[in-house]
Amino acid sequence: MFEKISAAPADPILGLTEEFKKDTRPEKINLGVGIYKDESGNTPVLATVKKAEAILLEKETTKSYLSIPGTAEYGLAVQQLLFGADSPIISSKRALTAQAPGGTGALRLAAEFIKRQLGDVKVWISNPTWANHNGVFAAAGLETVQYSYYNAETKDMDFDAALADLAKAAPGDIVLLHGCCHNPTGIDPVASQWQQLADLCKEKQLLPMFDFAYQGFAAGVEEDAQGLRIFADKCEELLVASSFSKNFGLYNERVGAFTLVAKSSEEGNTAFSQVKSIARVIYSNPPAHGSAVVTEILNDAALRAEWEQEVAAMRDRIQEMRTLFVQTLKDLGVDTDFSFIERQNGMFSFSGLNKEQVNRLKEEFGIYIVGSGRISVAGMTKANMQPLCKGIAAVL
Ligand code: LMR
Repeated sequence: MFEKISAAPADPILGLTEEFKKDTRPEKINLGVGIYKDESGNTPVLATVKKAEAILLEKETTKSYLSIPGTAEYGLAVQQLLFGADSPIISSKRALTAQAPGGTGALRLAAEFIKRQLGDVKVWISNPTWANHNGVFAAAGLETVQYSYYNAETKDMDFDAALADLAKAAPGDIVLLHGCCHNPTGIDPVASQWQQLADLCKEKQLLPMFDFAYQGFAAGVEEDAQGLRIFADKCEELLVASSFSKNFGLYNERVGAFTLVAKSSEEGNTAFSQVKSIARVIYSNPPAHGSAVVTEILNDAALRAEWEQEVAAMRDRIQEMRTLFVQTLKDLGVDTDFSFIERQNGMFSFSGLNKEQVNRLKEEFGIYIVGSGRISVAGMTKANMQPLCKGIAAVL
C-alpha cells in the first residue's frame, strides 16, 4: 500500500537541523532554527525553570488529565503577560485562554477555529513570514494572501505598502501580525505604526490575530506587548497565539496558548466552547508539566523577577552578537553595509544573502542558514564569530 507514497519535502527550518546533525565537520555552525544558545553554544535550562521544577516535584500529587483548555491559573498568567495585570479585558472576563501544544499548536487551534466558525475568510500574512504559517493555515483549509512588509533596499519595513495592501482586505478577513521580533526580518512596527494598523483593522472590520512567540526578546517583557495592547484598546475582538518556547527556554515541553478576546464575556464563552471542541478532537487536553512550570514562575514574585533577569540576559547577549557580527565583518574588509542587523529585534535577521550564497556557506564552510537568507543571531557566539564572518566574506 505504501509503495505509491512519494516523499514530502524537508521542512525549510527543522529539516536543516536534521542536515546539521548529520554533518561531521567539527567547526559547523547552525544559524538555522531559532533556538537560543549561550556563550558556550549550549541551550541551557533556565535557573528559574529548574527551581520551579524542584517545587513542583514536591507539590505534585497526581498525573490525572487537565481539562481541555488546561488550568485556569495558567490561562490567567498568560493573559496577564499579554494584556497587563490590570487590563480591563481580564477583569471583564472578555479573554479566554486554552493551553496549546506550543506556538504552532496554538496557531493550528486558531486556524481550525477560524475555518469552522468564521467561514471562508482570507488570512493576510506578511511577506515574508515564518515558513510554517502557510502550512498551518493551508492545513485548516484557509486561503492566505500576502501583504507587503519588507523593503529589501532600505532593509526596513515597507509600512505604506503594508497599509495599502491591507486596505484591500474584506470585512471579516484575518490580519496576522507578529507581536514582536518579526520572524524572519527582525523588523517591528513602531508605536505610531501599530496605532495606524489597529485603526485600519477597526475601520475595515478585520479580525487581528497576533503570533506572539518572542515576548521579552526585543525590549522587555512588558515593552514587547505594546503592539498587542494598542490593538486590545481599539479592537473589541482579537486572537492571540503565544508561545513560551523561547522566553522560558521550554522548547521541548510544547507550552503555548490560544487566547480569544470577545466583545463580552458571554460571547466569549460561547465562542470558546467551539475552541474546546476543536482541541478535544486534535489532542484532547494539553500536557501539564511545562505549563505548571510557567505558572509557578509567573505567580511567585521572586521567581518572576529572576526570570525577567534571565530573559534580559538572553536578549542582551543576542544584541551583543549583533554588534560583534557587524564589527567583525567590517574588520574583515567586507564593504557591504550590514549595520541594519544592529537595528533589528529578536533572534532573527534577514541577511540579504541569496540562495546560492546560503548553499555555498553550507557546502564549503558548514554554516547553516535558512534558504531565505534568514539568520538566527541567537546561534552566534564569540567563539564562532570569526569563522562565520570569514565564510560570509568569502561568499559575498
Ligand atoms: C524558527 O522559526 O526557527 C522557530 O520558530 C522554530 C520553528 O519551529 O520553526
